[in-house]
Amino acid sequence: MPSGAVATRSTPVVVSVRPHRAEGRERVTADASRAMPKSGPLVDRYGRVHRDLRISITDRCNLRCVYCMPDEGMTFLAHDQLLSFNEIERIARVAHTLGVRSVRLTGGEPLVRRGVTDLVARLVAVGFTDVALTTNATRLAPMASSLKAAGLTRVNVSCDSLHPERFASIRRRGDLATVLEAMRVAESVGLAPLKLNVVLLRGDNDGEILDFARHARETGRIVRFIEFMPLDAQGQWDRGRLVPGREVFERINEVWPLEPVADPARLAPAERFAFADGRGEIGLISSVTEPFCGTCDRLRLTADGSIRNCLFSDDEYSLRDRLRDGASDDDVADVLRRAVWAKFPGHAINEPGFLRPRRSMSMIGG
Ligand code: 5AD
Ligand code: SF4
Repeated sequence: MPSGAVATRSTPVVVSVRPHRAEGRERVTADASRAMPKSGPLVDRYGRVHRDLRISITDRCNLRCVYCMPDEGMTFLAHDQLLSFNEIERIARVAHTLGVRSVRLTGGEPLVRRGVTDLVARLVAVGFTDVALTTNATRLAPMASSLKAAGLTRVNVSCDSLHPERFASIRRRGDLATVLEAMRVAESVGLAPLKLNVVLLRGDNDGEILDFARHARETGRIVRFIEFMPLDAQGQWDRGRLVPGREVFERINEVWPLEPVADPARLAPAERFAFADGRGEIGLISSVTEPFCGTCDRLRLTADGSIRNCLFSDDEYSLRDRLRDGASDDDVADVLRRAVWAKFPGHAINEPGFLRPRRSMSMIGG
């Protein structure tokens, strides 16, 4: 693909995009003469084809990570405000007919909702090639084998420290030993290679960058370093607490040289690097300092049934109430198309006047 084009799996209609990972914010340009297509895959004005649906199945969580939720006082949705599994399956089925091929269950913490294994099996039966899960792993160990049997293809585990005390201070609840054991169990039932998500916070766990790199080398787990994003429910995001992906790269590369992993489609948000000696891989998710909006193929379904086309856009398209009012599959498809068509070229975190989204990460789904 020529540099300057947007990575999609079909021919992009977009012209003039600065190369991926260019300094600053990427620019994509819309073809204003185009009308929203009524058939074919889910495409936006910038030619980005959407193949990935992230489904938040609950806004609840049994942890209270400092970058996500306050220790006390979170309020959660009532059960009847959540989409039922039948409603989720129905939306997923329509999305599949529009070309969505991968789904990821998120939360809050998806494994606190009863019946997740059954939902996984139902989504696999829809025909998705990839049915994945992002979890804090506190409840994963006893469920790993049935999730695998249901057809789960991949699991991402959030784990922000390899030291028990620091783990406890960042996550406030839960403990490291349970998470490490759950990762071992998940791998033993074939949920491998496992990805491990680390949100880096300056002054907290940034001293563990090399420990996590060593962990990747020793375990074969793909450790992904995530920049702290302005999506915490407390609204305390502060750029000074963010550790730029570039710095992570330099600190690891000095000790264990890294090589970029060729990723021609570049649809995953992580910039991938392999250790030059062949022992393992890491990823950098530099959402703030090096936005990857130009290649975004993601669509989100919130736990209360709204479609969001971006983590950072407050525009939501409610499907729950439409479904409960008797909407047809064509109506659902139309909402999905309109939501994608309305997507902005990129987030504006680095622009003056940026307003943090009204809903935080655990409500939208990571
Ligand atoms: N910034 C960056 N990552 C976050 N996550 C949750 N809140 C934030 C935030 N404010 C991460 C979780 C999980 C993934 C779904 O998103 O740690 O790995
Ligand atoms: Fe729970 Fe995940 Fe938020 Fe931590 S980041 S509080 S594990 S939803």
